[in-house]
Amino acid sequence: MRRNIVAGNWKMNKLFSEADDLLFSLKEELDKKSSKNVDVIVCPPFLYIELATDIAEDSKILVGAQNVSKFDDGAFTGDVSASMLQSMEVEYCIVGHSERRKYYSETNEEIAIKVNKLLEFDISPIVCCGEILLEREQGLQFKVVEKQLTESLFHLSKEEFSNIILAYEPVWAIGTGKTASAAQAQEMHAFLRSLVKKKYGQNAAQNLSILYGGSCNAANAKELFANIDVDGGLIGGASLKAEDFIKIVNSF
Ligand code: 13P
Repeated sequence: MRRNIVAGNWKMNKLFSEADDLLFSLKEELDKKSSKNVDVIVCPPFLYIELATDIAEDSKILVGAQNVSKFDDGAFTGDVSASMLQSMEVEYCIVGHSERRKYYSETNEEIAIKVNKLLEFDISPIVCCGEILLEREQGLQFKVVEKQLTESLFHLSKEEFSNIILAYEPVWAIGTGKTASAAQAQEMHAFLRSLVKKKYGQNAAQNLSILYGGSCNAANAKELFANIDVDGGLIGGASLKAEDFIKIVNSF
């Protein structure tokens, strides 16, 4: 079923005590609300996953990771496997983020492998796609995301695909304060949904949650989320302050 989702990608931020404070504040605020029509996912650095799952245990917070190894286990220094994430009760994991594509040269093919590993361990992948500024200026944005989607996801069966959450994150909008307009976001989300419809059919397309990411904040979330094909947000900077993040959650 299509769900409204607000996910916080903390990236490489917060010391332990700050992570603890933020998680407790989120829990406190979310507990005050009667059950809302939105799922809240928090994706802290690996080190704080246990802290997050502990605090989340009797709260409305769901816990995700920011990355996963493309390998199963063994001699891969610094890596964290999908089975390890599962053993820590992680239910979601971001893959294909533009920062991983840029700084770690991740390819669509590697992202496809990571998606497979996550599904094998019942973790829902939050798969990111999005064009860089030059590609948008050249009018290539649709071609770019279509290639990303096709190469990283369209090998999946229909049943496997039902566990996917998509995130459209135009790279030029990430951490820049330059948000895609509500119309630009809606246009791309509708296009992504149409690709999924073509590949997996109407039901799969209708049930898919597509999140927007890129300078989404308390001031613009409402307008973005009001679009028919925008089912929530993947939030970076504004997920680091409880007050801002909660305002975004309450934008539905
Ligand atoms: P910002 O919200 O800081 O632009 O980051 C978006 C993002 O990359 C979320 O994954």
